[in-house]
Amino acid sequence: MKKIAILTSGGDAPGMNAAIRAVVRKAKVEGIEVMGIYYGYEGFMEGNMTLLDVGDVGGIIQRGGTKLYSARCPQFKEAYAQDQGIAKMKEAGVDGLVVIGGDGSYRGAMDLVRKGFPCVGIPATIDNDIPGTQYTIGFDTALNTVIEAVDKIRDTATSHENLFIVEVMGRDAGDLALYASVAAGAGAVIIPEVDFMIEDVIARIKQGEARGKKHNIIIVAEGVMSGTELARQLKENAGITTRVSVLGHMQRGGSPTAQDRVLAGRFGSYAVDVLLAGKSGRAVGIRNHQLVDYDMTEAFKNEHKTDLTLYTLATDLSI
Ligand code: ADP
Ligand code: F6P
Repeated sequence: MKKIAILTSGGDAPGMNAAIRAVVRKAKVEGIEVMGIYYGYEGFMEGNMTLLDVGDVGGIIQRGGTKLYSARCPQFKEAYAQDQGIAKMKEAGVDGLVVIGGDGSYRGAMDLVRKGFPCVGIPATIDNDIPGTQYTIGFDTALNTVIEAVDKIRDTATSHENLFIVEVMGRDAGDLALYASVAAGAGAVIIPEVDFMIEDVIARIKQGEARGKKHNIIIVAEGVMSGTELARQLKENAGITTRVSVLGHMQRGGSPTAQDRVLAGRFGSYAVDVLLAGKSGRAVGIRNHQLVDYDMTEAFKNEHKTDLTLYTLATDLSI
């Protein structure tokens, strides 16, 4: 392998830039050139890319978003689009691809692998929902953003003795909501992985009130319902008045935390090792602090499992 390419695809996540930097620099150490593809699979199809040298990835380690931009490219599910992209890469002498993204992006990469084009995946999403790795790039930063927001909301909740609902992202996964509830000390957390009953939430609120709790914060994962819907149900079923904060896309932005930068550095460097070892269709991940690579199809065939011991912990610590 003499030249590889890299792209970011799907939703952006803080730390994607740090991963791009790591891939480019590790490849340089190994004597390999890296082409940066713009706009994910859209750029792959069109051959929209530029040579990235060591200096081109300087000054980006601390930046959120992605220098290479990202895009959702529905037509990449079609065989003609994949063939066209592979032809563009071959024309440019590119022999392999590093894909930074989520499970949707991995599906695209696997289609290329099946057509004989070597790919390796690096997991990056604030949702932390990729099977096979305990953490994804961007999750820790988003988590810290949520915690900071909840801390601020708590000041108002305490001063005015209010009950707040905070709606957080995560798509179908509850990790962001769950970890945030433990770290920010929420009074209750509602996640897709645990059956929801409005009566339970009401009981927890009443239990808090009975012990003299004057304010409360409930974190709800968007995968269960909106904060507004939860507020409606609490009002309708128990006459409880709440205020709702929807954190929204602020959770996707910002400078990556130390943890995400280190993870991005390790993943980026390891992904180059994996490609150079002649492996393809592999995703890199981290399990018990150890880097691993595994069959990329595991990431979208298996179901994401959240750590439910944390749910018990969140419940125990918020009595
Ligand atoms: P994420 O990678 O964050 O899960 P998406 O699900 O939006 O984000 O996927 C990103 C891109 O990956 C899509 O816009 C599309 O270009 C490509 N992709 C997704 N699913 C497939 C698929 N089944 N086959 C080929 N490409 C896909
Ligand atoms: O996957 C990241 C994520 O931010 C999810 O948490 C959220 O559900 C979704 O993307 C929002 O997507 P969009 O930016 O396309 O509205």
